[in-house]
Amino acid sequence: MNTILEHRTWRYATKKFDSTKKISTDEISLLLEATRLSASSYGLQPYHVFIITDTQIREKLKPVSWGQSQITDASHLIVFANQTDFTGELVDDYIKNVAETRNIPSETLKGYSDFTKSKILNFPVKTKEEWTAKQVYLALGNLMQAAAELKIDTCPMEGFEAEAYDTILNLGEKNLTTSVVVPIGYRSEADESQHFPKVRKSKEELFTHL
Ligand SMILES: Cc1cc2nc3c(=O)[nH]c(=O)nc-3n(C[C@H](O)[C@H](O)[C@H](O)COP(=O)(O)O)c2cc1C
Repeated sequence: MNTILEHRTWRYATKKFDSTKKISTDEISLLLEATRLSASSYGLQPYHVFIITDTQIREKLKPVSWGQSQITDASHLIVFANQTDFTGELVDDYIKNVAETRNIPSETLKGYSDFTKSKILNFPVKTKEEWTAKQVYLALGNLMQAAAELKIDTCPMEGFEAEAYDTILNLGEKNLTTSVVVPIGYRSEADESQHFPKVRKSKEELFTHL
């Protein structure tokens, strides 16, 4: 099988992790770098990523994650949190980064900055929060795919109470809210679901060629 498809077929939403197996520091660094390299609208990356190994925090998060065992059993728990609101500072910080990274005067970026601000700062707050959450899902996909290439298992999860996560992780004061969480580690041999065939829409249902 083509390796592109092999990685995507190998991965599955892992229901039961082997709690004795830990991901190496080097591989965690690789996964985080793949996450950091994700594309985002206008390049703004309006989110923050928490890497949680602390067992006490994870014990607190489990009951507000529908009791799902992956929260405590996986090697690491990744929590993606999107910005609930933003101001022009989000764009200004990005422009400063571009100018420094590419060694160009920030004045040459004024047109891009003004254009970006004109597009996103007038969103209603609710739309801002939905738009920042969309950016998170690209990073999530990148993390999951990079993990599959390293034969590291993941389980993307929306089965949790975001408000409780925000309280436990003190996200409110950071202008963040939990969007999606991903336990990562190694599948347990006892996880039956690793043997289930993939269930997907047929090509005819999913694709239209025009
Ligand atoms: C955004 C998102 C949220 C999900 N939430 C959960 C979850 O809370 N618990 C869980 O066990 N699986 C969760 N899943 C896994 C899906 O059920 C799974 O990806 C889907 O059934 C396809 O199966 P596969 O990923 O094993 O190929 C979630 C998947 C996504 C993409």
